[in-house]
Amino acid sequence: MKTVLITGAAGNVGSHLRRELAGRYNLRLSDIVPVKDISPGEKQARGDVAKMADMLRVTKGVDAIVHLGGFSAEGPWESILHANIIGCYNVFEAARRNGVKRVLFASSNHAAGFYRRDVKIDHRVYPKPDSRYGVSKAFGEQIGSLYADKYGLEVFCMRIGNVNPVPPDKRRLSIWISPRDLARLVSVGIENPNINFEIVYGVSDNRRSWYDNSNARRLGFLPQDDAELYAAEVLAKDKPGDPRTEMYQGGTFVLAEYGGDPSRKTAIRKVPKAGTVKKAARAGGKKTPKSMKAAKQKKRK
Ligand SMILES: NC(=O)c1ccc[n+]([C@@H]2O[C@H](COP(=O)([O-])OP(=O)(O)OC[C@H]3O[C@@H](n4cnc5c(N)ncnc54)[C@H](O)[C@@H]3O)[C@@H](O)[C@H]2O)c1
Repeated sequence: MKTVLITGAAGNVGSHLRRELAGRYNLRLSDIVPVKDISPGEKQARGDVAKMADMLRVTKGVDAIVHLGGFSAEGPWESILHANIIGCYNVFEAARRNGVKRVLFASSNHAAGFYRRDVKIDHRVYPKPDSRYGVSKAFGEQIGSLYADKYGLEVFCMRIGNVNPVPPDKRRLSIWISPRDLARLVSVGIENPNINFEIVYGVSDNRRSWYDNSNARRLGFLPQDDAELYAAEVLAKDKPGDPRTEMYQGGTFVLAEYGGDPSRKTAIRKVPKAGTVKKAARAGGKKTPKSMKAAKQKKRK
């Protein structure tokens, strides 16, 4: 049986995965806080992802790492830097030094939260983070890419939507993943023999999905749940939010600390509707007095 290290095992996602993966893997559970109620088949290995010595110790001898540990929402730069940027580097570097074959990284929808909701995105879009947290997830994906290409690590990045027994609100009808579907995705990430570097979306088979998750399906992910089952109940309680959060996939994360630059308000109103960017590109781009002035200024630089 494979030995799988879960970092951040004491958290919400870690707790769901422990339950869903029990009996299928030997689980090594690591967190900065103690993990409670260790059962047979589980071992505790306390550690701070921001400390390389800890990561070298806890990653020794495992077949795969499911890296969840870190700051799981928008927060102060120092917290994100410590837990998510330095922590993520340490996990990949410790995996490399200890010869761990595979790393599954818990990325997030917030790595691409500034895509609009009327656009369906797939695993090939470039990141558009909606927060420092989202930037840290894009960083994790990119360091994963580097370690895959340069050192041959096998890296599986899951842009997780929202892990919950049931979808709690309208936005999450589009990004929800049930704990058992997440366990299915994690199993694909551990077991598929042909992974070099992959990005997939961690979402159930939601009818209202904003993602084309064909890459996950190609690799063998067959989600069984659909948030639509809960839609009537969720929508009956729904209260419309701020139109700016309703416009973007990242929801309230796009609005966190919004207002640092007042001109952004105008910029947001001018975001073109889906499809108009393509049309403009086909037409060779329409010259406006503003774009001509900007081009002149660019030349001057
Ligand atoms: N919950 C979701 O729906 C969701 C969605 C997208 C991505 N994710 C990602 O999945 C992962 C797990 O999310 P979660 O909801 O369980 O978050 P959580 O906050 O419940 O758990 C995170 C765990 O990481 C641990 N941790 C924090 N700093 C650490 C450090 N320096 N060293 C070691 N451990 C540390 C915490 O103690 C905690 O147990 C996170 O990386 C999160 O960004 C979660």
